[in-house]
Amino acid sequence: MTDPIYNPISNEALKDPYPIFSYLRQNHPVYWHEQMKSWILTRYVDCRDVLTDNDTWARDMRRVGVDVPEEYVTMQSIDPPSSLPLRAGFNSALHSFDTNRISEFVNDTIHTLLVPLAERDQFCFMHDFALTASEIITCEVFGLERPGNNEFHEISYGIALQMDSGLMPEQRWEGRKVAPRLRAIVDQGFALRKENGLFAAVVREFENTDWSHKLMQASMDAMLNAAYSTMYTSFGSFALTLAQHPQVLPQINSDNLSLAANEFLRYTSPAQATSRAATKETRIGNVQIKPFDRAITMFAAANRDPEVFVNPDELNVNRAPNPHLSFGFGPHMCLGARLARLISKQFLANMINMPQLYIKGKPKYFRTATLRWLESLPVSFQNPPAISPTKEK
Ligand code: HEM
Repeated sequence: MTDPIYNPISNEALKDPYPIFSYLRQNHPVYWHEQMKSWILTRYVDCRDVLTDNDTWARDMRRVGVDVPEEYVTMQSIDPPSSLPLRAGFNSALHSFDTNRISEFVNDTIHTLLVPLAERDQFCFMHDFALTASEIITCEVFGLERPGNNEFHEISYGIALQMDSGLMPEQRWEGRKVAPRLRAIVDQGFALRKENGLFAAVVREFENTDWSHKLMQASMDAMLNAAYSTMYTSFGSFALTLAQHPQVLPQINSDNLSLAANEFLRYTSPAQATSRAATKETRIGNVQIKPFDRAITMFAAANRDPEVFVNPDELNVNRAPNPHLSFGFGPHMCLGARLARLISKQFLANMINMPQLYIKGKPKYFRTATLRWLESLPVSFQNPPAISPTKEK
């Protein structure tokens, strides 16, 4: 039965979930969602506390009695203290990049794809830009050959469907269906170990350790998907936000680029939520939580909490401080945050050199909740359509 208050995949929630989050935050900040069998948390402080308190709240479902097959155990699913050396190794691999080189590569890729689009009366930002840019940048970062045929996209979409299986149980095998395709790419990455790529850096970090190759493979499966899917999502939602707020583009410049990128991350929350399970009885506000209960920390709602952000629904490219939760918080906070910020900055830096972007048709969202994914975004850099010189005469 669909929840009477919050249906994340209703047309209204897909288009604009923020009014519902605001209602929940004010009226039911700790809300039992029967369909998802989870507590939905919409207050900033509750989300942050749950993500920080590793003792009470588990990411690793084995701590609450769930049988997780070995092939699904990854660096992302293991909690401290066992995760600490593993996380340190991946962190070090991700920090071994030459930031200038990657920054230049990201900039060139975005520039090369974006500039010709200015000539077109109309194009789909997702298909004609986001998909290709995310694939090219992901392959460069990880050290992979481009798989082609939208392979990353189809794989990430399958995983996104499975992430929503609490809402739609019939989707629970979608991620498993695409798992062999993802593993083929990961195995190629380990075989190639391209210089400057993440696979080579990970092998260097872990070669004389006891961590199994299986765990490395599963962790890289998860990391590859984490990188591609959030990049695709953020390119789309950043572009839509720019088109919806034409006054903002002239406010962004090289001095406030970092603040602006951070604000776009807060405002759009590319990853909308994550979840944890209670290891013991606890309380959130005045609500009693039973052991094994699940809680969904709704980043997108926390990022608009007026207790923390002044005028939270306003896009303020000079906002500071801006302690958003778009990269999570605590022991599982995003390891790719530095890279994601770099890419977000390069994207905005390119957009300020382009004409204003105009929406030319209805943006369409995939029916996914954990990631707010645009499927299509018809836009143009020209408005009204350019009149050809012959017609003008
Ligand atoms: C805009 C882009 C991105 C956003 C919004 C984002 C968001 C997040 C969030 C919210 C989490 C925490 C999940 C949780 O606590 O359950 C996370 C974890 C993670 N992300 Fe990202 N991410 C982005 C880009 C990336 C990139 C580019 C990479 C890698 C190249 C990456 C790698 C990871 C990894 C490895 C974790 C797991 C960390 C752990 O469990 O210890 N992310 N990300």
